[in-house]
Amino acid sequence: MSFNLLKNKRGIIFGALDENSIAWQVALKAHEEKASFTLTNTDLALRKGDIFRLAELTGSKVIAADVTSPDDLETLIADSVKELGGKLDFILHSVGMSPNVRKNVHYTELNYDYFHRTLDISAMSLHKVLAVAKKLDAINEYGSVVTLSYIGAQRQFSSYSDMSQAKAMLESIVRSFGYHYGHYKKVRVNSISQSPTQTTAGKGVGGFDSFYAYSRCMSPLGNATSEECAEFCMLMFSDYSRKVTMQNIFHDGGFSNMGISDELIGSCFKCSGDCDHK
Ligand SMILES: NC(=O)c1ccc[n+]([C@@H]2O[C@H](COP(=O)([O-])OP(=O)(O)OC[C@H]3O[C@@H](n4cnc5c(N)ncnc54)[C@H](O)[C@@H]3O)[C@@H](O)[C@H]2O)c1
Repeated sequence: MSFNLLKNKRGIIFGALDENSIAWQVALKAHEEKASFTLTNTDLALRKGDIFRLAELTGSKVIAADVTSPDDLETLIADSVKELGGKLDFILHSVGMSPNVRKNVHYTELNYDYFHRTLDISAMSLHKVLAVAKKLDAINEYGSVVTLSYIGAQRQFSSYSDMSQAKAMLESIVRSFGYHYGHYKKVRVNSISQSPTQTTAGKGVGGFDSFYAYSRCMSPLGNATSEECAEFCMLMFSDYSRKVTMQNIFHDGGFSNMGISDELIGSCFKCSGDCDHK
């Protein structure tokens, strides 16, 4: 069902790799809500993923960009404004990657070159997107920039590794740049802290199935799906959230405020007592 929430709005959607990607669902929903937008990802993702199918489904142009490269971002944003016929109203930054996680490097033995890369791709890149957009004055007043985070920014999840630091930095950039961009141009910047979701990035985290099951049993509303995340993004891009900025908003079925649930006490989890925690 469409409410025309994004009619006449223009945007850029980063991070659609395949139909499991959260960004993929956001693009489908934004199309349904009558937005026009460009899609972007790395050259490699363009070759290996399925983004051109999404472009066909949504009538969008694909523009390659590495989100860590300010030059790529400048071309992407300038070309998007030209292609869409005016300044932007929304940007989805749905990008994350840790070479340490990908290569199973233990947290206590992090490779620091990889760590830099994790922070650059998964956090600093938001600053770069915002800085280039501001420099080009590419976003309309009350435009909305949304990035995706995870509760690993606040709490320890054993295999989330250096992505925890990346998400903490990401959420901090949301507040700091959100202040400056709000003050300067009334542009809004927020992060959505999403439930574990079955995507390429999600499943790359060790023990993902346990993360997913644990959080489903803990959350009174269950895990939020990528489709539900996309619906929430529509609200965040729409004028109905025009005074919301500098926030990290949990979209997690209630997980973030839980201690323990009946489900965990009851049937889902039984410790055999065989571990070291006597
Ligand atoms: N899946 C989950 O459980 C979950 C939960 C909370 C938050 N998130 C966050 O949601 C966002 C989207 O992830 P997803 O789960 O949809 O997985 P995904 O793997 O589909 O998306 C990640 C995207 O980042 C892109 N990317 C990586 N390096 C890049 C670069 N240098 N330049 C441009 N793009 C680059 C990838 O090509 C991919 O499209 C990430 O920030 C992730 O951390 C995911």
